[in-house]
Amino acid sequence: MKPQNAESIMAPAILVTGGAGYVGSHTVMSMLERSESVEFEIVVVDNLSNAYRSEGQKKPAPLRIIEEMTGKNIHFYELDIRDKEGLDKIFAAHNIECVIHFAALKAVGESVEKPLEYYQANISGTCTLFEVMRDHGVYKLVYSSSCTVYGEPEKLPLDESHPTGRGLASPYGRSKYFCEEIMKDLCKSDPKWVVISLRYFNPVGAHHSGRIGEDPTGIPNNLMPFIAQVAVGRLKELVVFGDDYPTIDGTGVRDYIHVEDLAEGHVKAIKLFKDPAFSGFHAINLGTGTGYSVLQVVAAFERASGRRVARRAAARRAGDVAANYADAARARRLLAWRAARGLPDMCRDAWNWQSRHPHGFRDC
Ligand SMILES: NC(=O)c1ccc[n+]([C@@H]2O[C@H](COP(=O)([O-])OP(=O)(O)OC[C@H]3O[C@@H](n4cnc5c(N)ncnc54)[C@H](O)[C@@H]3O)[C@@H](O)[C@H]2O)c1
Repeated sequence: MKPQNAESIMAPAILVTGGAGYVGSHTVMSMLERSESVEFEIVVVDNLSNAYRSEGQKKPAPLRIIEEMTGKNIHFYELDIRDKEGLDKIFAAHNIECVIHFAALKAVGESVEKPLEYYQANISGTCTLFEVMRDHGVYKLVYSSSCTVYGEPEKLPLDESHPTGRGLASPYGRSKYFCEEIMKDLCKSDPKWVVISLRYFNPVGAHHSGRIGEDPTGIPNNLMPFIAQVAVGRLKELVVFGDDYPTIDGTGVRDYIHVEDLAEGHVKAIKLFKDPAFSGFHAINLGTGTGYSVLQVVAAFERASGRRVARRAAARRAGDVAANYADAARARRLLAWRAARGLPDMCRDAWNWQSRHPHGFRDC
């Protein structure tokens, strides 16, 4: 437990699980770039299963770079969120006011092959975190959810009243859905819980400085890093899964959102915790509201990079839907947030990061 009067002597802190990963690191950057966030210390817990640390360094590369850029310190713990004792010590050592919970396994295809690993990390890990939060009287949470929870869209655009949990195609999607249900139960069990579940659409791009970005290991699962790696010459060609969907050009349509806009959505979400009347569970879409097809994204990327992106069509992937995009009205209303960056910005920043760092953080 915290030493007596700990709150009065320790600065308030935000715990960021998975803060060394793609969305987590951009959110940490976004918080530290803002002067109003200086009141908080940032504490990151990450097991480095999908984040890079150079040999001999104490902190993972993105956090080291953020510290360099902002001149601010980040407390870092290499820890798995399933390690209850370890988490307990961290909560005892810091005056944690709220948690942003990014840590999860996220590869949809892999989750079909390894469901137990996904349920272990994403559900058991999340329950362990919530237990420790409760034990330490921390009830404010921002959760990384996904538009995957909507399954096959019954109508477009997708708003938050759309049913969730129906016809989900992967253990990954189910893990996000189950976690949302668990959080709803927590909020019903005790009014002290305040949970904001941010349902991301498709985060892409990189920090405009080009110093941090997405660094997937192996063949990327997501479109933009795949395109970027083809453009930079790391991969031979882009595989376009499905060119016979009922969309503008036959390829899948998605709502892409710049990772800096997404990060800013988290900063706005945390501000809601200041309102004592704000309580319970809230799901909020973070998307732009506009869908682009795979070929439209490729064309925009070619314009931004000046490189041609070789591609070939392949069969549809099981579980992929033809189109999805967000109704982002609730985010505008509740968070006073709207995406400020468009597809050209996303492609420019993704290319800026990839062309400066063809091998991701290994080049830093
Ligand atoms: N990137 C997307 O397309 C997308 C879309 C919707 C939702 N999300 C969700 O957003 C969150 C962040 O995604 P991301 O793209 O930044 O992924 P990421 O893999 O880059 O980041 C996740 C981080 O969590 C860490 N981690 C994983 N399991 C852990 C564990 N058991 N204990 C401690 N650390 C652990 C990893 O090392 C990594 O640094 C995830 O919850 C993901 O499901 C991502």
